[in-house]
Amino acid sequence: MDTPTKGMSPSPHISVLYEEVLDALNIKSGGRYADLTLGAGGHAAGILEACSPEGELIGLDVDPQALKIARKKLKPFGARAHIYQASYLTLEDHLQALGWKDLDGITLDLGASSMQFDTPERGFSFSHDGPLDMRFDPTKDLTAEMIVNEWEDKQISELLFKFGEERKSRKISKEIIANRPIKSTKQLATLIKTVIGPTKQKIHPATRSFQALRIAVNAELEAVEEIMKIAIESLSPRGRLVVISFHSLEDRIVKNIFRDASKPLRDSQDPMNRIIRDPVVNLITRKPIVPTEKNIRENRRARSAKLRVVEKCAD
Ligand SMILES: C[S@@+](CC[C@H](N)C(=O)[O-])C[C@H]1O[C@@H](n2cnc3c(N)ncnc32)[C@H](O)[C@@H]1O
Repeated sequence: MDTPTKGMSPSPHISVLYEEVLDALNIKSGGRYADLTLGAGGHAAGILEACSPEGELIGLDVDPQALKIARKKLKPFGARAHIYQASYLTLEDHLQALGWKDLDGITLDLGASSMQFDTPERGFSFSHDGPLDMRFDPTKDLTAEMIVNEWEDKQISELLFKFGEERKSRKISKEIIANRPIKSTKQLATLIKTVIGPTKQKIHPATRSFQALRIAVNAELEAVEEIMKIAIESLSPRGRLVVISFHSLEDRIVKNIFRDASKPLRDSQDPMNRIIRDPVVNLITRKPIVPTEKNIRENRRARSAKLRVVEKCAD
């Protein structure tokens, strides 16, 4: 879960698994890279330094607030940094526009950033009071407030169960319906805390529900599934894809797509079960890389991070 525990002070904005991401990308001078979840540009700055003097990077994010900070941070790299306010699902369009055939490395750091959690107006955090927003992309229509105040009981309980693995989803959704309108993160967090009651768990009782709402608002899991395939497709031979996930639903998608792409694809209709596609990638990490104590101390968000890496097979 990628939300702060109760009583935690806001985390400084330090990129999760920074050194591990740079190592895993196997960066070469003059290479072409993409940071598909640019955030504050921490990983991107490290990549641009490592591929200097001529290497280039595409950086994408849908959050204008994050892009403002990233643009400032990446200014010293001049024209080597190509930054766009766009969904990572548009990667292929940007590659085409730049005339780039493929990429030597891609990084995808999923979920919300520390900066998003620490900005109350964005509505991601139950630790600060704010509107129930939770959109990564503020131009989109759907907000958490609309889900909480307009969706039916069954739809809400299903989403809390499916995207938050919340066992008390039915009780929570009934209470939500009974207490409408719910306008703020604190109001919702307090309601959930009351429904769940005292627990021995270290995480705040609203963590799972807030995660579920955020995933639904941003259609995150569908997007992750789609971008993983696009990213693998966009790698050059021996190019690396490095993905950081923060909860089991995301990690499962990443793990399964990497595993399938690393095996030959057989024709299940064929009695001979012939191979119709060779493996596309090699698994670099059989088990995920997890953060060090130091990384967790620097950024609490890191504590549930899992990093997985594949390398595209040579032609
Ligand atoms: C965990 S943060 C990335 C932090 C970044 N690696 C750094 O070093 O600062 C994830 C970022 O992905 C962005 N994001 C979420 N969905 C996206 C999408 N579909 N396309 C592009 N960016 C997206 C979020 O707005 C957020 O800024």
